[in-house]
Amino acid sequence: MRNHVWRPLYLVIGVIALLLLVRTLVVPEDFGSHESGYMYGWHRKGNEAEWRQVAVKYRTTAYCKDCHSEKYDSIRNSPHGIIPCEDCHGPGMAHPDDPAKLPIDRSRQLCLRCHAQLPSPSSGRDAIRGIDPTGHNPGTECSLCPPPHHPSVSEMQ
Ligand code: HEC
Ligand code: HEC
Ligand code: HEC
Repeated sequence: MRNHVWRPLYLVIGVIALLLLVRTLVVPEDFGSHESGYMYGWHRKGNEAEWRQVAVKYRTTAYCKDCHSEKYDSIRNSPHGIIPCEDCHGPGMAHPDDPAKLPIDRSRQLCLRCHAQLPSPSSGRDAIRGIDPTGHNPGTECSLCPPPHHPSVSEMQ
């Protein structure tokens, strides 16, 4: 065969050899298909242990229910019944061990996040009843009036 055939062929062989070399250096030893097979199993075995170490931050409302059943019951049948506790109190993490208490946010900002009037019909956000943040009892904590765990419609005037 002629040179113009051999030369590109050498080049291709060289590139493949280089890729194989780089692969053996870069890909971790425990990477492979493992017991779950080729279809879903491609991962680094050591990564399983790493994921087990990841601490769950958000524990869901069901987690709060046992210890704070009074709060759970009061909010459940209120207009706020669909909001997860952790949406207002932050991630539960290992509470009550660590942290012993979760934060209580009494700022106007907490409520305005959802109740500042926002005309955006296409997103559905304006379906949540809103107030004008500057005109509505300025400087006063919102939670002084509608109890955050069981607000009622008449209080949003
Ligand atoms: C295993 C029981 C337990 C679970 C589960 C639990 N808590 Fe608590 N929580 C406590 C205890 C005990 C305190 C401390 C009470 C105190 O000092 O007044 C506390 C305190 C709090 C406080 C602060 C109360 C205050 O007066 O400062 C908030 C807010 C709170 N928890 C929210 C939550 C939320 C939200 C969840 C779910 C993510 C949750 N808790 C899950 C037991 C629990
Ligand atoms: C809309 C936001 C919001 C949601 C949702 C919410 N909370 Fe609260 N929570 C507050 C605010 C604000 C306060 C402070 C109330 C006050 O100052 O009277 C509070 C107070 C508390 C307190 C301590 C004070 C008290 O009244 O004894 C606990 C405990 C608590 N919440 C637990 C929960 C749990 C459990 C859930 C879910 C079932 C939940 N909260 C859902 C906003 C919220
Ligand atoms: C995560 C979003 C969210 C936060 C934060 C929030 N709310 Fe709400 N609130 C809602 C939704 C959703 C409703 C259900 C009724 C609706 O669609 O208007 C509601 C209903 C209400 C209602 C009854 C009005 C009605 O139309 O049913 C009052 C009053 C109210 N909230 C006050 C507060 C106060 C005070 C705070 C702060 C302590 C607060 N909310 C924080 C989402 C939120």
